[in-house]
Formats: sequence, structure tokens, C-alpha cells
Amino acid sequence: MASTAVQQTEMKAETTKAEEPAKVARHQEVGHKSLLQSDALYQYILETSVYPREPEPLKELREVTAKHPWNLMTTSADEGQFLGLLLKLINAKNTMEIGVYTGYSLLSTALALPDDGKILAMNRAII
Ligand SMILES: C[S@@+](CC[C@H](N)C(=O)[O-])C[C@H]1O[C@@H](n2cnc3c(N)ncnc32)[C@H](O)[C@@H]1O
Repeated sequence: MASTAVQQTEMKAETTKAEEPAKVARHQEVGHKSLLQSDALYQYILETSVYPREPEPLKELREVTAKHPWNLMTTSADEGQFLGLLLKLINAKNTMEIGVYTGYSLLSTALALPDDGKILAMNRAII
């Protein structure tokens, strides 16, 4: 029996809900909150374009952060590079960051600022 458009939409919503736990788990594994629907495409972009340009200190920080249970909070490598690009485009010299976590965006910022740049960063006490 042919299903109506409403039934098809409901079936699709059910399928999407069923896929959600796997997607969330994968996102936690890679530590990102991408708008991309395809993890495979995101992974391809990371491996072919983002990671090869990532400075060694950021790579080390990313790898350590990935082992932390709250790693979903981190800025991802692609976000960090985009942040660095924006800071360079506006010739930023002074930045303020509220919410540091393990410092991926902070270090990305530091690497993008000129030698006389200044960063003010703060994080609430973690008890
Ligand atoms: C999403 S994480 C920040 C990620 C970080 N920018 C990075 O690149 O990994 C949010 C951080 O904000 C901190 N935070 C939450 N509320 C805050 C507040 N009121 N003032 C300062 N830091 C806060 C948390 O402790 C946490 O470390």
C-alpha cells in the first residue's frame, strides 16, 4: 500500500531519530559540532586540508583534548584555522576570550596574532 506524504515524513523522522545516537557518538569521537551531514566528508576535509596545515603544538593539544570526557566542548581544527584567518584579515592585535577549556581556540589565536599581540583569556573556576 502506498504511504501518504505525511506518513513518509514521519517514517523519515523516525529513521533520523534512530540514527541520532550513532551520529552523536561519532561527533564526540571526533570532537566537533559540524553543520555537515556527512561525517565521512568532514573527515575527508580534515585529513586532506585541515590537519596538514595544523601547527604541531595545536596537533598535540587536539590529541590530548580528544581523550578528555568533555571533548565535545573544544574548538575543532577547522574552526581554529578559520578563527586564525579572520584574526589575520582584520589585523587583530588584542583579543579577549571568555571560556578557554583546554585552550585550542586560545592557542589558535596566539599563533595568529603578531609578536606584540596580547590576549586576555578567562575561564570560570572548575570545581
Ligand atoms: C565550549 S568551552 C570553550 C572551548 C574553548 N574555546 C576551546 O577552544 O576549546 C566553554 C568554556 O567556558 C567556560 N565557562 C562557562 N561559563 C563561564 C563563565 N561564566 N565565565 C567564564 N568561563 C565560563 C567553561 O568552563 C568551558 O571551559
